[in-house]
Amino acid sequence: MKILSIETSCDETAISIVEVSGTAEQPAFRILSNVLWSQIDTHKEFGGVYPNLAKREHAKNLPSIFIENLKTAGLFIQKEVAGGVDPETETKVRELLSREGNLGEEVLKIANEIEKPDIDHIAVTTGPGLEPALWVGINFAKALGTLWNIPVVPVNHMEGHVLSVFIRADEHGAQTLDTSAIRFPVLSLLISGGHTELVVMRDWRSYEKIGATKDDAVGEAFDKTARLLGLPYPGGPKISELAREGNSRLDFKLPRPMIATEDFDFSFSGLKTSVLYLVKKLGELSDQDKKDVAREFEQAVVDVIVKKTECALSATNAETLIVGGGVSANTAIRTGLTNMLAEQFPNVTLHLPDQHLSTDNSLMIALAGYFSVVGKKSEHELVADSNWSL
Ligand code: KG4
Ligand code: ZN
Repeated sequence: MKILSIETSCDETAISIVEVSGTAEQPAFRILSNVLWSQIDTHKEFGGVYPNLAKREHAKNLPSIFIENLKTAGLFIQKEVAGGVDPETETKVRELLSREGNLGEEVLKIANEIEKPDIDHIAVTTGPGLEPALWVGINFAKALGTLWNIPVVPVNHMEGHVLSVFIRADEHGAQTLDTSAIRFPVLSLLISGGHTELVVMRDWRSYEKIGATKDDAVGEAFDKTARLLGLPYPGGPKISELAREGNSRLDFKLPRPMIATEDFDFSFSGLKTSVLYLVKKLGELSDQDKKDVAREFEQAVVDVIVKKTECALSATNAETLIVGGGVSANTAIRTGLTNMLAEQFPNVTLHLPDQHLSTDNSLMIALAGYFSVVGKKSEHELVADSNWSL
């Protein structure tokens, strides 16, 4: 089965084509093509992601990224005679993409020039995310589905982050997946720019949220703290880099919000405010000051995340811990969790995504789409749902 997957929920425009074989319990996953275009340079000067700017960039880049995928996957076949799209389909495609600038005409141009590609399903992120950005991907997917009569499945972006840990590259570049050894219950710690959640899975695709942030997501706290230190967006990787050269200083102590509460919730906005006061108090920041603030901030985050995860593991008797989302790329968090497991829960298996699959990508959307196709159908409609909760 070949799946085309599309991700446009935030500031990455990503498309992949994967071939899945094997059984539903143990699918074998082969990547035929995978292209990711990051809009970071566009958003950098504004210090954050602007939804309408993201939407415009997605619309501009989707056609060429799609074509590049078809070519790499060997599915690009030029028509001998151009044309052939019937007027009714043409009208539908124009209607679907009427609010996406020139995208409708570009899609029709592609359809007139190439044969129907050998793709069985299209998987597209429908939420959570930035609504205008989500709609471009959804309408693009629907247009392709309409043109070539290919079913389109809605995918939850956070489910993608959970499943991202099962995508592995071996030395031949092939991607395999082994889900057969997973022991339930599974605890998932999802940490990204928009989410901070602890989710229990007692079976595949069953999600029970037991905790979440009450205000800012942890990635957001990284990004806002970075801005206070005069660092460019996205701040997470930059803070992490500085923190490595930072020193622990008594006069730089920051709070560990909600670390001792008996729930599994988080709060990061107070931490960011404390950084603001610290930075104001210091006035001019030397390079070493910045490194020291970064270190203390990162340590505060690690302490809270590790403690809450530890409590959640105890309470749920989880046998497996999955960590996903952009912030899971953070080395200090990875190390903190690994050490806590070794000391307290030596029998719990930890699954982390490959570093490059921690942040948004379309491979995880393909995998989530596959589970949707072979397993329990998603009851979700093909509409953008910016707050779609697991
Ligand atoms: O999952 P993701 O790519 O997008 C969302 O779904 O939000 O996560 C992006 C977030 C950003 O806030 C970014 O600063 C953060 O992940 N991030 C990191 C690191 N790499 C990315 N945060 C801390 N340390 C990192 N190494
Ligand atoms: Zn994400």
